[in-house]
Amino acid sequence: MTESTFWSSDMSSSLVDFLLNSFKAQQDKTTTLIQITCTVVAIVLLWLLHYVLFKPLNRIRDLCDTGYQDQMRWDRYGKTKRQLANEARRNKKVGDVPPVYPNGWFALCESDDLKAGQVLSIKALDENLAVFRTEDGQVCVLDAYCPHLGAHLGIGGRVVNDCIECPFHGWQFSGHDGKCTSIPYSKGKIPPSAQVKKWPCHEVNGFVFFWYHAEEEKSLEPEWTVPELDVISSGRWQYRGRTEYQVNVHIQEIPENGADVAHLAHLHGPSMLGGSDLTSIDRKKSDGESMPILHHHWQVGWKGPEHGDADWHVAVTTIKHDLRLFGRIPFILMDVEAKQIGPGLVHLTIGTSLGRCVLLQTVTPIAPFTQRVLHRLYASPTVVAPYAKLILWGEAIQFERDVAVWNHKTYIRHPVIVSEDRTISKHRRWFQQFYSENSPRIETIMENRKGSLDW
Ligand code: FES
Ligand SMILES: [Fe+2]
Repeated sequence: MTESTFWSSDMSSSLVDFLLNSFKAQQDKTTTLIQITCTVVAIVLLWLLHYVLFKPLNRIRDLCDTGYQDQMRWDRYGKTKRQLANEARRNKKVGDVPPVYPNGWFALCESDDLKAGQVLSIKALDENLAVFRTEDGQVCVLDAYCPHLGAHLGIGGRVVNDCIECPFHGWQFSGHDGKCTSIPYSKGKIPPSAQVKKWPCHEVNGFVFFWYHAEEEKSLEPEWTVPELDVISSGRWQYRGRTEYQVNVHIQEIPENGADVAHLAHLHGPSMLGGSDLTSIDRKKSDGESMPILHHHWQVGWKGPEHGDADWHVAVTTIKHDLRLFGRIPFILMDVEAKQIGPGLVHLTIGTSLGRCVLLQTVTPIAPFTQRVLHRLYASPTVVAPYAKLILWGEAIQFERDVAVWNHKTYIRHPVIVSEDRTISKHRRWFQQFYSENSPRIETIMENRKGSLDW
């Protein structure tokens, strides 16, 4: 063997070793990469599974989030969504509206928002309120302004036993009657006028409500109560999520939607998968020539109380719903009974093929044309979480279509209607009972605010 042949064979074996090692290193790298990818995918899938199966839905939409897609589309000046929404709000003609704050129970917050010993500052129906929970769990609602020098009790106030202590000089006010119980630096008698208004309140079905009435003598004694739903208070039905909205409309328009049976087919017929952008939802009719793939089908009725009925403050909308594939094959069947309980609360009992759910809707005016609307869904154990959340999500999309209309519409006191719209007139007559002589009117509120429309 010559020397050159020896060197050559040695070199080729080194080269093979080198290639083999490189290949192995590459293989190891690929394996590590695959392992990392698989771990990431598994974590994402587990998170998704956890989200779908266990985490309640929480959908929050601010005043400018719904119904302004057209403004965004046509804007040539790079304005923000908030600017465009505010512009649309200012340009909107409110119309010849009824009083802006009806009488009844209104939700101030959800029970989870208020821990023992916590104080919240809440504005509702033009009232500034200090809402607090005593250490033993009782909720109290007082006027926010301290009669001493006017500090806001809800901002920096402290719960002391069943009282709230003012953050300014430490005067304490009882949550039971609003009377001052202590002036820490005074040895004299507590002046009898050292008192704040105490509002009737009621914590039920996961909400804290307060009773509002424009007539002084009726503001202390509620005329009816918010019914307790045993399936919620007993904990038998599971909480599956919530949605929260701010809507730019007069409060009466929201319950009127339940009596407006004709809008369902037109506005809520197109599939929920199309979202809530009114310009782009598929308006094809299932009875038309071009059949949509998915279409909601509704059968609706509205009924107010009979004359002399004890539940004069309750009206009922009944709905039969199914989602149709190619206009023929029905699925997601639901029977809904929506009880409108006064101006600010609806209990919707939803019968589905898997079991029953209840959706609670509260509407609270935080300013004359700004409504805070909350929904909370509870489902019986047979309604699996993903299905319950699908129902809530679908309801949210449909509700957002209404919001998109409400945010721009005006109120017409004498609408041009046809005989099929008669339940709207009935609803308006029924709703009249929630206004009284001193119910605040927009003109008076504007005068007090020197005509400012900035709420
Ligand atoms: S302002 Fe409330 S104690 Fe003085
Ligand atoms: Fe609607």
